[in-house]
Amino acid sequence: MVKVGVIGGTGVYDPTWLREAQEQTIDTPYGTARVTEGFLADGGDQAVVFMNRHGLGHSVPPHRVNYRANLWALKSLGVQRVVATAAVGSLNVAMAPGSMVLVDQFLDFTKNRPATFYDGGPEGVVHTDVTEPYCPDSRQRLLQAGEARGVPLVMGGVYVTTEGPRFETPAEIRAFRMLGGDLVGMTGVPEVVLARELGLCYTCIALVTNYAAGISSTVLTHQEVVDVMGQHVNRLREVMLAGLHGLGEAYPCSCPPAEGPISAH
Ligand code: HPA
Repeated sequence: MVKVGVIGGTGVYDPTWLREAQEQTIDTPYGTARVTEGFLADGGDQAVVFMNRHGLGHSVPPHRVNYRANLWALKSLGVQRVVATAAVGSLNVAMAPGSMVLVDQFLDFTKNRPATFYDGGPEGVVHTDVTEPYCPDSRQRLLQAGEARGVPLVMGGVYVTTEGPRFETPAEIRAFRMLGGDLVGMTGVPEVVLARELGLCYTCIALVTNYAAGISSTVLTHQEVVDVMGQHVNRLREVMLAGLHGLGEAYPCSCPPAEGPISAH
């Protein structure tokens, strides 16, 4: 049974669902990461490493999250599968606020953040395959975990990652929609890409907190995102915890191994 990593996004902060929880700071070549290690409190022996993407008290904005330190820390603690949560806006009327979506593709509109472990150093040049960036098998397990609890999840959605921290213009949202985007958020990339560079299997449960700019009839605020997340976070946590049980057991996972030397660290 391998350890599972959980990256909690907006609204998913306290791992009160872990027993024998131990907080620690992990040093990495990219900086430090705070994690809480433990076991799922509601039974079983699944080991979990939890981290807050946005740090203590949601203090780190999306473009300043130390994604490399976070993923490196998880990997160095022996994590092999990661489940991340994210608050997102929706571009797709079929994914209304409150919907939970198992993301299957991304579009990358980030501009200015370290997005690779292969930055021209001694590790050489590595081009990681991201044909299937999000683990299809873990998605299936989470979908079934939701179904078993009467919590519907949407299977598949294209997550557009913007640089932020501002929200988008309606013109941008129209353009993203034309390109095939369903959801918009500020953290999806490079997190999933770095996970794949390290050979980690990665899944993202996105919770829609709002219709994106121009689709929504009101002006968007971060408070709205936080409030709507708060209304739905119990369902999100329920599905996530159900899906985490046994996620670290061997099961056919089609995520390819990492291609470069860094994954062996
Ligand atoms: N845009 C970008 N990020 C978001 C949004 C949005 O509408 N909602 C939640 N995170």
